[in-house]
Amino acid sequence: MTDLAIIGGTGLATLKNLEVTWRQVVHTPFGEPSCPLTYGHLCGKEVVFLPRHGSGHTIPPHKINYRANLWALKKTGATRVIAVAAVGSISTELVVSELALPDQIIDYTWGRGHTFFEEDLRGVVHVDFTYPYCSKLRSLLLKAAAAAGLSMADWVTYGATQGPRLETAAEIDRLERDGCHVVGMTGMPEAALARELELSYAAIAVIANQAAGRSENLIEMASVEQNLNRGMEKVRRLLEQLIPL
Ligand code: HPA
Repeated sequence: MTDLAIIGGTGLATLKNLEVTWRQVVHTPFGEPSCPLTYGHLCGKEVVFLPRHGSGHTIPPHKINYRANLWALKKTGATRVIAVAAVGSISTELVVSELALPDQIIDYTWGRGHTFFEEDLRGVVHVDFTYPYCSKLRSLLLKAAAAAGLSMADWVTYGATQGPRLETAAEIDRLERDGCHVVGMTGMPEAALARELELSYAAIAVIANQAAGRSENLIEMASVEQNLNRGMEKVRRLLEQLIPL
């Protein structure tokens, strides 16, 4: 059985070291996932991989069918999900191309299919979401980062914005006042849907840029891409260390 699922984000549409065994088209009651699931071996361990923006990176954050993606992964029998996501850094302590391990979330997204509990209910369901990420999975990721010789800040609050545009400088100031250290567009409702399905879920944030108004320059996609490439190499190194655990 494939216990471990990996959701790839911008810059991680493929897992380089994955020896692919098969692909599976999955239909869910919530529609189609971003693309077929890819099964394979990563350093000897079976994993199932799903790039959330689709295999050609064509689905913007607000159009991703998060419910179908999580449902499809749950259906494989996976119990643990590691999500990889590009973010902008708000805190000056978080440097581009480095990794961070969020421990909290503030959700600013809207209009996304964000719950499995809205139709045909026998009663209203409210899942606990005090600690949005799985502490065991976070510890595993921290150990793997240490084994790979990578630093990874673990005190990070993730602000989830709607996108697809980047934020204004004033919006980033507001996020900072709210307590956010990084900003990204895909962390929610993904984390909450994982919780609703009782999947262990943790996210590796890859710092792609300084958030709007946090550097002298405007945010340029060419440098975002360069930073992401460097960051994703670190993600691959980290995952290699995680797999044997
Ligand atoms: N804002 C929101 N999402 C992001 C950013 C950002 O600056 N960088 C990468 N994803």
